[in-house]
Amino acid sequence: MSFSPTVRPTVAALTSSRIRDIANAGMGRSDIAAFWFGESDEPTPQFIREAAQNALAEGETFYTHNLGLPQLREAIAEYESRLHGIALASERIAVTGSGVSALMIAGQLVLSPGDKAVVVTPVWPNIAEGPRLIGAEVVRHPLTIENGRWTLDTGRLIETLTPDTTLVILNAPNNPTGFTMRPEDQKAILEHCRRHGIWVLSDEVYERLVFDGTDAAASMIRHAEPDDRLILVNSFSKAWRMTGWRLGWLTLPEPMMSDVPKVIEYNTSCTPAFAQRGAIAALTDPQGEDAVNQLKASLGAARTTLLEGLAATGRIEVPDADGAMYAFFRIDGRPDDMAVAKTLVREYGLGLAPGSAFGPEGEGWLRWCYAARPERIAEGVERLNRFLADG
Ligand SMILES: Cc1ncc(COP(=O)(O)O)c(C=O)c1O
Repeated sequence: MSFSPTVRPTVAALTSSRIRDIANAGMGRSDIAAFWFGESDEPTPQFIREAAQNALAEGETFYTHNLGLPQLREAIAEYESRLHGIALASERIAVTGSGVSALMIAGQLVLSPGDKAVVVTPVWPNIAEGPRLIGAEVVRHPLTIENGRWTLDTGRLIETLTPDTTLVILNAPNNPTGFTMRPEDQKAILEHCRRHGIWVLSDEVYERLVFDGTDAAASMIRHAEPDDRLILVNSFSKAWRMTGWRLGWLTLPEPMMSDVPKVIEYNTSCTPAFAQRGAIAALTDPQGEDAVNQLKASLGAARTTLLEGLAATGRIEVPDADGAMYAFFRIDGRPDDMAVAKTLVREYGLGLAPGSAFGPEGEGWLRWCYAARPERIAEGVERLNRFLADG
């Protein structure tokens, strides 16, 4: 008998990222206008980079506490308390090596193989694939389009959250649709989950990027009680343009905190001290809020440019949504998103993410990240128009 040196079946069954499949086809070509990844085309603000450089210069090159530097946990707790009008203790914060690592650690903390996890979709692939890697069964609950807006049928979601559900994962503002959640829906979901002991994992990495002039996407924590089974995921990647730093955090119920260091220890142990020093500057230096506001203003302008450009084609449907940094749209008569995305890269030099990367609900759609200078967006729209004109 021979044994083949291959991965276990659960890993083999994971879906590889279709965003990467398209990007890999075009990366390295200098003529591509790329909007496929969810990141700004500008580097991290200078004052954050300087804080990290200073820490490196001073020799901060050693392991740190599993949960992060006390000063950073304090800065995060103060920031969240200020933002949401709550009193959050720093003991409930765990610094992680990225938002995606925070998601995986949260899954490892509460999910066992065979558990049922409900995920609201379409959604960034990592959110649904992480629980599958742990061996959980993932049930997808799709958003719908009502009156031209992405909408969550909260009543139906609650019906899906039967008492045998271990975890529900929400992501609002949502990647890829931009969907944001109404406070009354957040409350209803929390109340239902409280009654049945269902864990709520709320991915709020886009919480600062809402364009409706209200706090529509405000954190689930505003409606939480201290002993709720609620875990929040956040990240420095989006609001402070720190994607390459790989720094995020978890906000967890206090009774979990004695066990969390073990799980972080066996994943990454800790995050680099000098990167954490940059994150402290992002949260405590007054330039930090200025940088977030500037990002939001430039994203707002880019969003208008893109949505106007897409509307002007007369062949594109973009349901309304108020948050994140993406336009999620479909082209009339072009249902094969992978084929369209491949043709756009190969023949028109336009790099978009295929909607099916976000699950079967995204089939036929395309995602455009508008965290780019308006002139780049305009160039992208021109290339899309050339594609549309050719058929
Ligand atoms: C919804 C969502 N959650 C989490 C992340 C993770 O971000 P990072 O791992 O860079 O912190 C992303 C990144 O695109 C995202 O879209």
